[in-house]
Amino acid sequence: MEHHPIGISAFTAVRVPALRFGCGECHALPRMLSDAGFGRIGIVTGSASFRGSEAWGRLQDDLKHAGITASDHQIAGEPTPAAVDDIAAVLRANDAQAVVAIGGGSVLDAGKASAAAVFADGSIRDYLEGVGTRAPNGRTLPMYAVPTTAGTGTEATKNAVLSEIGPKGFKKSLRHDNYTPVAAIIDPELAVGCPPEVTAASGMDALTQLLEAWVSTAASPFTDALTESGFGWAARSLVRAVLHGDDLHARSGMAYAAYLSGVGLANAGLGIVHGAASPIGARVPIPHGAFCGTMLAASVRHTLRKLEPADPGAVTALAKYARAGEVITGRSWGGDADNRAALVAELERMTEILDLPRLSDFGVTKEICRDVAAATAGKGHPAPFSAADVEALLIERL
Ligand SMILES: [Fe+2]
Repeated sequence: MEHHPIGISAFTAVRVPALRFGCGECHALPRMLSDAGFGRIGIVTGSASFRGSEAWGRLQDDLKHAGITASDHQIAGEPTPAAVDDIAAVLRANDAQAVVAIGGGSVLDAGKASAAAVFADGSIRDYLEGVGTRAPNGRTLPMYAVPTTAGTGTEATKNAVLSEIGPKGFKKSLRHDNYTPVAAIIDPELAVGCPPEVTAASGMDALTQLLEAWVSTAASPFTDALTESGFGWAARSLVRAVLHGDDLHARSGMAYAAYLSGVGLANAGLGIVHGAASPIGARVPIPHGAFCGTMLAASVRHTLRKLEPADPGAVTALAKYARAGEVITGRSWGGDADNRAALVAELERMTEILDLPRLSDFGVTKEICRDVAAATAGKGHPAPFSAADVEALLIERL
């Protein structure tokens, strides 16, 4: 299998955060902050689980020791513009110099958006893509991202997703190159307490992002190197991380894969599953990872049916899906077509083993599928999907 073209087309890559990766690395955070000269920060966290942990108590002690005062913000569920505005008001009042976010993707997005909202004129809502009318000016407090789940890779990206759920709801990004965190502290130990269904859903989000960025029409040799490595780690780690949550080898593999998925999507974009994820997430309260996870295998199967070997534009994507089949299953199955079939079979096996929920479990109906399909953007997907194609794909996973 050879999909490498000769020569490299023009591409750009955005800044990546400074990275500290490894078990126990979260304890370096207070020192990093004091070395950077920060004495006043805001900390954004999520559910009670991290706040009840030993690491939280130690962080408080270490911050005090370092002479750093911190305002404390808790975010429940996915962040709304109103919640972000509230956090930003406190950060502004306290003259905070930096923001630390410790939690899952929603918490990191809340922290990222709040750091930027400090410099917003009015509500951050006005700066959201497709919702507001103003362009972000790129000013932000330095933001430190400490993920406790392995999924969205938002610790590596330049956007924060904010939402309001309902018939007139939205799920849209606040986006600017400057919003990429200044540092990501990825400590796989922090994910040990993450429940199996959250590990499964967030891990499938990472795998979806890696595969969508891998076959994206905007992929470059730079993103290819990262995403191919990423889905290899995800394939070797995900099921084990779900079944054996305290396995630090599996947790570290997933934490790394998730980070690479963020770098990949920030530079190569995503595909049809993520194109549908925004409109469906605005309509019903379905966790982003649960949606991506349940759609991934079917989306690859539908895409492969649409990619015609005779179409020169499809050649690269077909070769890449074949390569993904080899990497994800850990062996070659013969020719490219066999490797693509192995990819679909393996993704379907993972869907079964991880017991991923169906769309109807979250109240999705056929009518919602039609509305979501009409609002879905194909992004960098390698095959064109009409609204009817997207609707058929969604209905398959009802
Ligand atoms: Fe995602």
